[in-house]
Amino acid sequence: MDVRDVDDTDLDLLIRSWPLPGSVHESHHAQTAHGRATHLAAWEGAEPLGSGVIQWSGCVDENARRTFPQAVEFNHLHVREGARGRGVGTELIGVAENLARRRGVPMIAVGVAEDNRDARRLYLKLGYRATGVVDVSEYDWVGDDGEPVHALEANEILVKEL
Ligand SMILES: CC(C)(COP(=O)(O)OP(=O)(O)OC[C@H]1O[C@@H](n2cnc3c(N)ncnc32)[C@H](O)[C@@H]1OP(=O)(O)O)[C@@H](O)C(=O)NCCC(=O)NCCS
Repeated sequence: MDVRDVDDTDLDLLIRSWPLPGSVHESHHAQTAHGRATHLAAWEGAEPLGSGVIQWSGCVDENARRTFPQAVEFNHLHVREGARGRGVGTELIGVAENLARRRGVPMIAVGVAEDNRDARRLYLKLGYRATGVVDVSEYDWVGDDGEPVHALEANEILVKEL
């Protein structure tokens, strides 16, 4: 498995080989403008397995950013259904942590939906700790059936010292 920064060629491959509704790959990649974020993807040859985004300007939620001003956030972690349980998520998280460490960042944060027990278990296993800080976000997206969805999500911030 190879985890690397998504460049323009990778972005085309992601869009073609891992179609997701709502221009998800494009919107993640757009966040990298002006070096504000790093868009990471895991590959097996030309096959994308998963992706995630490091937000260098810190936690996206204002409350979380105030509480953990020293942290970067790793968000949008998503492993393809057929590729789960094989270490892809662990590898993406590990690469994000190493990149942050190399920049001298002392802390990395993730937001986990309160009902996402699997992801929470994974982060706790990797040394993250629950903080009780909840980031509430409201957003619109297009569902698998092409219908618009309005979502209200409560994510608890988990952090790890690097
Ligand atoms: C959560 C997620 C990123 C984990 O990625 P992954 O590549 O399956 O994880 P890994 O193989 O590295 O690690 C396996 C661990 O992840 C967790 N896990 C989460 N979903 C899993 C799944 N469908 N199958 C197996 N393990 C899963 C388990 O804790 C497992 O640990 P265990 O074997 O001790 O039970 C992935 O399941 C996913 O994309 N889920 C949907 C989107 C999501 O929830 N993103 C996280 C937002 S915070």
